[in-house]
Amino acid sequence: MPFATVQGVRLVYDLRGQGVPVLWIHGFPLGRWLWDPQVEALRDVARSIAVDLRGFGGSSTPEGPYTMETYAEDLRGLLDLLGIDRVVLAGLSMGGYVSFAFYAAYPERVRGLILADTRHQADTPEARANRYALIERIRQEGTAAAVEAFLPRLLGATTRREHPERVEMLRRKMMTNPAAGLIGALQAMAERPDRTELLPRIQVPTLVIVGEEDEVTPPEVARQMAEAIPHARLVVLPSAGHLANVEAPEAFNEAVRTFLGQLP
Ligand code: MLT
Repeated sequence: MPFATVQGVRLVYDLRGQGVPVLWIHGFPLGRWLWDPQVEALRDVARSIAVDLRGFGGSSTPEGPYTMETYAEDLRGLLDLLGIDRVVLAGLSMGGYVSFAFYAAYPERVRGLILADTRHQADTPEARANRYALIERIRQEGTAAAVEAFLPRLLGATTRREHPERVEMLRRKMMTNPAAGLIGALQAMAERPDRTELLPRIQVPTLVIVGEEDEVTPPEVARQMAEAIPHARLVVLPSAGHLANVEAPEAFNEAVRTFLGQLP
């Protein structure tokens, strides 16, 4: 399991395939395994780097607080160590929030953006309060509190109905994350800035993908992002929820393959 030490933090990553460098950034409370259906299927066109963010999976969990900028700095350090100058950033949900922070700081390092099931707005006061309430529960009950809170909303209605085994598989994988890392991420999400003003300034080709049944970051939000970003294309995947890349991997991969093939 390769790892790099960046700013004193051990980051575990997978490196696979050849072609356009793509840095895959997972959502919450997930891990680099989220991207398994992409890394393998796209290995002929993408040089994939799939990383566990600090506080997730096999990466280390330094003291918080964390911010989206902290994660972005880690990733910039990882790319430096790997000798990769420009990448396509592919972020799902929280991974999209990290992608925005990365692009805001280092636009020259970004060749394209894949924004999957994510949003540009900051948390509402209610959403922020919910995160801090969940942090308290995690302090008491550990990782299971986060898993119970998020699991019911991550997969779409079709997947929950037709593939109940995927819910259990997801639960097992989510449970591998340390409580302290989840607390760090919840706080980082609660305090993240609104990115509405960044959208019209994004100058790289952008693919916005969303599951039609996404209840966390619904298609309407994806539509708004795609309209506000100058060079964006929107793809809505039927019968998929918030984890569109897992629920509709073939359609997701086809959209990414086309996108990578059209990069200047
Ligand atoms: C995620 O999938 O990363 C989270 O659901 C995002 C969020 O809670 O805002």
